[in-house]
Amino acid sequence: MKSGVNLTKEFQTIFNTTQPIRTFFAPGRINLIGEHTDYNGGHVFPAAISYGTYALGAKRNDSKLRLYSLNFPETGIIECDLSELNYNEEQEWANYPKGIFSLLTKEVTFSKGADILFYGNIPNGAGLSSSASIELATSALINGLYNIMVDRIDMIKLGQKVENTYIGVNSGIMDQFSIGLGKQEHAILLNCDSLQYQYAPLRLTDHVIIIINTNKKRSLTGTQYNNRRKECERALLDLQKKLNIHSLGELSKEVFEHNKHLITNVVDKKRAKHVVYENARTLEAFDNLQKGDLHAFGQLLNTSHVSLRDDYEVTGKELDVIVETAWKQEGVLGARMTGAGFGGCAIALVEKEHLEAFKKNVNNTYVEKVGYEATFYNPKIGDNIKEISEGVLI
Ligand code: GLA
Repeated sequence: MKSGVNLTKEFQTIFNTTQPIRTFFAPGRINLIGEHTDYNGGHVFPAAISYGTYALGAKRNDSKLRLYSLNFPETGIIECDLSELNYNEEQEWANYPKGIFSLLTKEVTFSKGADILFYGNIPNGAGLSSSASIELATSALINGLYNIMVDRIDMIKLGQKVENTYIGVNSGIMDQFSIGLGKQEHAILLNCDSLQYQYAPLRLTDHVIIIINTNKKRSLTGTQYNNRRKECERALLDLQKKLNIHSLGELSKEVFEHNKHLITNVVDKKRAKHVVYENARTLEAFDNLQKGDLHAFGQLLNTSHVSLRDDYEVTGKELDVIVETAWKQEGVLGARMTGAGFGGCAIALVEKEHLEAFKKNVNNTYVEKVGYEATFYNPKIGDNIKEISEGVLI
């Protein structure tokens, strides 16, 4: 897309309207550590990033919902009525905002529809939560337009419910939580069972967290992701024959080691092991970051990746090439995949002075072994959802 585009003007042209517009922004996220622990009642340690989704909207005088994304101009305006908001596979991206409206109509009555324009600068399907970002941008906009006062935690839970019941991905709450409550220059340690959280300042001194996109699209993510969740649930059921627990996240490494023989299926046992050890690593990583021990923090990123590769088996060739090449570079304190896996992105903690050489070397090896380029991003650790009063130029 050409640069210097004024989103308000685009809105007026696309929808042919001069109605007053509200504009909201919801970020994407990276997860520093704590992968596949959220739906197991464990801890996660994500942060919001400065890339995200803009949602511009105006109320209409009828009950139509008209949705347009500047990222998918080929799908044109997607139109539906507030009385007919069922999931429709052909409407692809539009199911996320539709899902938010659909679930909300069970609790509130919208007398009027809306025109909504989206633009996102998070790479799609890259594991940086473009879907949770559009969900939360939609909720914030609805809140602004209809004044229904959805509280932030409710907004977060609504996004997750859309994923689980409308889209059909049984995801945990990490993505929506980091987008809804992220804080500039901070990561959030979240207990996904109690939803208690605390912020940790990201004091990276002369290091940066760089995001590396494998550019591998993840088509079967939903299915594979849901399978992992089932494997964990089976492991939990086996452990519950003896232990009085309601999630894998409650287990210490020691209790797990004493009782892992209860898990009959070897694959389920590996999945549970990852969850228990990853949860412990996440708490340790939080402590290390608080103490400013970036080297110890980096080591935990590495062991997390190994566990996701060998025990949870969600990495794949592309992520492994990136991460294993990253580990060999000068000035790298740690690297791992981030998000659901199966493609998508990795993160690395790199000394600033070595960053350019890092990118060049990792990309060269990636092209050699995988056959196409990786992409590198260096966003700021950003804030959560906000309303934007001035016009947005992209
Ligand atoms: C996806 C899901 C999250 C979380 C991660 C893996 O991003 O949406 O809920 O489970 O995968 O940690």
